[in-house]
Amino acid sequence: MHPAVLALAIAIALLGHGLLWLGLVNRIHSWAGPRPVVDGLTLTCFLLACSLPLATAWQLWPAEWAAWAPFDADNFAAGYLWLCLALGATTLAWKPWQETRRYDPRVQRAHASEVTDVAAELGQRPLYGWKAKVCDLWPWNEALTLSVDLRQLEVPRLPLELERLTIAHITDLHMTGRVGLGFYEQLAAHVNALRPDVVAITGDIVEEPECWPWLAPTLGQLTAPLGVYFVLGNHDDFVTTDRTRELLVDAGLICLSGRTVRTEWNGVPTMLLGNELPWLPPAPDVSALPPRSELPQFRVALVHTPDQFGWCQRADVDLALAGHTHGGQVQLPVLGPVASPSRFGAKYACGVFKRGETVLHVSRGVAGKTPLRWRCPPEIALLELTGPRSAVTAPTLAGPRQSAPSS
Ligand SMILES: [Fe+2]
Repeated sequence: MHPAVLALAIAIALLGHGLLWLGLVNRIHSWAGPRPVVDGLTLTCFLLACSLPLATAWQLWPAEWAAWAPFDADNFAAGYLWLCLALGATTLAWKPWQETRRYDPRVQRAHASEVTDVAAELGQRPLYGWKAKVCDLWPWNEALTLSVDLRQLEVPRLPLELERLTIAHITDLHMTGRVGLGFYEQLAAHVNALRPDVVAITGDIVEEPECWPWLAPTLGQLTAPLGVYFVLGNHDDFVTTDRTRELLVDAGLICLSGRTVRTEWNGVPTMLLGNELPWLPPAPDVSALPPRSELPQFRVALVHTPDQFGWCQRADVDLALAGHTHGGQVQLPVLGPVASPSRFGAKYACGVFKRGETVLHVSRGVAGKTPLRWRCPPEIALLELTGPRSAVTAPTLAGPRQSAPSS
């Protein structure tokens, strides 16, 4: 084999190798098993991912390498090389096409975004602990920015009274102490500046008891005329979830954990469902809801993981909001997100999706346990709902909706 062709084949095989093991870790982290088992399996995958290339190269040493023909050997190493090459090549051919469909054009009718440098607003970089400092060595780290993404979504069964209703969707705040309180205060100020009708928070809020006092001066400051709602996520289970819920409710938020709540939005009966599966059961009891034939209604679900999309569809939900996958936190050129703790891998890392009459929005989230982001800034999504027959208007983040947030 020509050395240049061999080098390219090895590079693609290495990519396939990385994607294979990362894909396995993604599936392990979608599972609600005991934390030590999940961590143990993750470590095993990491060690195998590091050692397999060395073992493969060693088995082919020196004869096949000397002949520039490692793929021609008749052993396990060559078989593994072929497997990785096929996986890498298939992914390179298919992933860019998949990325063009991430924000389903049948649903997302228009989009505008604006990124703010929160560190510049604060006049400092509030990152604490060695892990955060190491992450911040990456010169393009976006962990201390905030992107407001206005998305105009077409919801098939949107009642006329809810035309142009706005929902600010935020998720995955991961209050650990690694990112300082000031960042979250700015987050709340930016959300309020958008003046949404509703605020929805889809979990992974606080994972250290030291951060419980942060809830009132941050999420407790959020205001929306139709309510500020939340569910919790898997990382919230690192501390006492009942205490977190109690503090959030005391701060004025409405808890949807495993519940259905009947309310009215602009005179329309609205059913809100909160699903924290698979980590914090139970799922809300959908059978207790009045059928649409008896009561025309709008159904909105807050779920932590997009893996519950199927559940949302079975629950006949109109609009589902999810987080958990963080947009992958790092989005590679060509490939997009690759690290995404879902049983569907990176498919639902972020984006807008539709199955039947159910629309799903998956936010990139606000933070992460590891404060590192690249080509995937923290997101405040402002979702503007439209019906199928309404006209598309050019969305803008300028004008009366937005005023300068206070620091
Ligand atoms: Fe998360």
